[in-house]
Amino acid sequence: MTLLRTLIINKIFLTIVLSCVAWNVQASGDIKKGQGIAKRVCAACHGKQGISRAPVFPNLSGQKETYLIKQLKDFKAGTRASNNMEGVVKNLSEQDISDVAAFFASHGQVQDNSAKISKSIVKKAEAKLNICMPCHNNNGISSNEQYPNLAGQKDRYLQKELEKFKKGKRKDPIMTGIAAQLNKNDMKNLSKYFSKVGKISIK
Ligand code: HEC
Ligand code: HEC
Repeated sequence: MTLLRTLIINKIFLTIVLSCVAWNVQASGDIKKGQGIAKRVCAACHGKQGISRAPVFPNLSGQKETYLIKQLKDFKAGTRASNNMEGVVKNLSEQDISDVAAFFASHGQVQDNSAKISKSIVKKAEAKLNICMPCHNNNGISSNEQYPNLAGQKDRYLQKELEKFKKGKRKDPIMTGIAAQLNKNDMKNLSKYFSKVGKISIK
């Protein structure tokens, strides 16, 4: 009798724990709502599928969710400056940010394209690639939610961001120190490499 009771209580407890976990996952971002925002607000610049047409507008599909949320909050707080994004984030609530980040993160997947990349691109990037590897990996698919994927990102966009880190126009405790070790040619070569070493496929 007591054993049965313990089992029942355990089962109830487990159900409560599991439903809390499920609730938490849901509360992080509503993909459907995010899709609506993406279509209305973001598509004009980042493309209908989160793959942008302009070379200096970043692709968003398949990017790490935590990273996307942080960038949107940085734009909102003004700690990352962008004339284009400033007006956009002003009208987004915290929940909108979670929803739209959940949508873009889940909408695409970055695929390893390293087998197809030309030897000359690898050769030019090789010298400095070991600096990036611990966080962004050789294939540009990052190992941590805080580190953005670089693979398949726009070449010119990557180069522009590296230049901003170097000039102190975009600040980050890690990337500021990294960019200081790169000259203009390194930035060009690494940006080209990372843009080609992966491909974003839309789900
Ligand atoms: C008017 C054009 C425009 C619109 C509309 C726009 N963006 Fe952007 N977005 C940009 C540009 C340009 C950048 C690059 C910022 C920079 O140069 O600092 C950017 C950067 C970003 C980044 C940083 C990406 C990275 O890899 O660091 C995120 C995230 C982002 N946008 C999300 C959004 C979302 C979500 C929406 C819709 C709610 C949106 N943007 C609407 C132009 C736009
Ligand atoms: C110790 C970890 C670490 C290393 C090593 C590192 N990065 Fe990063 N990188 C980061 C983090 C964290 C960010 C996000 C910064 C932020 O929040 O704005 C980032 C952002 C970037 C961005 C901006 C991407 C975007 O979508 O806007 C580029 C480009 C970049 N890194 C290139 C490189 C290159 C090239 C190297 C090697 C020379 C490198 N990183 C080495 C951690 C690292």
